[in-house]
Amino acid sequence: MRAYDIILKKRNGYELTKEEIDFFIEGIMDGSIQDYQASALLMAIYFNGLTNKETSLLTMALVNSGEILDLSSINGIKVDKHSTGGVGDKISLIVIPLVASAGVPVAKISGRGLGHTGGTVDKLEAIPGFRTDLDKETFINNVNKYKMAIVGQTHNLTPADKKLYSLRDVTATVDSIPLIASSIMSKKIASGADCIVLDVKVGSGAFMKKIDEAILLAETMVNIGKSLGKKTIAIVSDMNQPLGYEIGNSNEVREAIEVLKGKGAEDEIYIALTIASYMAILGGAFNDFDKAFKYMEKAIKTGEGLKYMRKLITIQGGDPNIIDNPNILPQAKNHIEIKSDKDGYINSINAECIGVAAMLLGAGRSKKDDLIDYGAGITLTKKVGDKVKKGDTISILHTNKEKWDDVKSIIKDAFNIDKIKIKPSKYIYKIID
Ligand code: URA
Repeated sequence: MRAYDIILKKRNGYELTKEEIDFFIEGIMDGSIQDYQASALLMAIYFNGLTNKETSLLTMALVNSGEILDLSSINGIKVDKHSTGGVGDKISLIVIPLVASAGVPVAKISGRGLGHTGGTVDKLEAIPGFRTDLDKETFINNVNKYKMAIVGQTHNLTPADKKLYSLRDVTATVDSIPLIASSIMSKKIASGADCIVLDVKVGSGAFMKKIDEAILLAETMVNIGKSLGKKTIAIVSDMNQPLGYEIGNSNEVREAIEVLKGKGAEDEIYIALTIASYMAILGGAFNDFDKAFKYMEKAIKTGEGLKYMRKLITIQGGDPNIIDNPNILPQAKNHIEIKSDKDGYINSINAECIGVAAMLLGAGRSKKDDLIDYGAGITLTKKVGDKVKKGDTISILHTNKEKWDDVKSIIKDAFNIDKIKIKPSKYIYKIID
């Protein structure tokens, strides 16, 4: 078999076999296939796509390039959840304790933030003492004993995906639906859970800007999950404005706790409870969405979700006092209010711009090895649909930096305020199961 013939076959629009896909991925890993050949195949895939069968085969080839976590010693049906990335997306922090409280084991592998989107691992590490580098044995024991554990992704899961992603990043082939779907699903499958709930974000702050593309990505990932024996449900949810009111690390942890205390913003409560309900259904705790949703509402009302959050923080070495006293979380020293310069209605808040602004304030990374300032971030004091008067505060910026004028203008420009109120977007556009 030759790399050349596989590239030619895909360039001419034919379906590749399992042997050809495996040969290519193995060749990328052992160095027998050069980066320029891998890049050529990526471009051929970009233009000609992959069939569902090829996408599943590619996913498995990526999974087999590294370690596959064996979670078989965890009792029950293990569920995981993945978001394609957004701004202010603290849903994982809310759903892990809620789903665990329903008796479903949550074995969560999460990532760090990059660019305008945040990462769950960074958010949790804002909690003093919280460890996300649990060894495999502790991770498995915690899920067995407490029904939940969360760790950062280890380097030996799907190394071929890392290699391919770095090539895609420099060859303009990132935004190919089969390549994105196989990349995301390979990491989830290698992480060993039995079922996966995917939150595919769409809108200004998301990877996918158009609803039809987001739906296609969601369908492709659900197909991969099914063909590889993992029960998978995807929701396509709105990211045309940041989720909730807080964007950053300490402040997102604080807001997630607020939700578990029965407060918080309507959009994130609705999306979190929907995802938690599907996770609990896949995990076998409920057979009906309404029952699952009612349980989640009750778990918030009775404080059961909060109890599990306290437990999660404690078992991972964090300081549980942050629940009663969030001021223990790292805080920035400067808090700058941004005011509206006109009367009207907030018709949109460009989530990507807010994410970039939060990153520039220190809350995120522009490069992989940048350090995070846990106290930095942005608080929105208004959301889409709200009425504002000239001089009203629309957001507050938190930073330890000494200069913020550029960021202030990015945030101001992110708000579209008009005399006529437009209908805000739906929270969830589609559910694919
Ligand atoms: N996230 C991933 O993990 N992979 C992609 O290809 C795109 C987003």
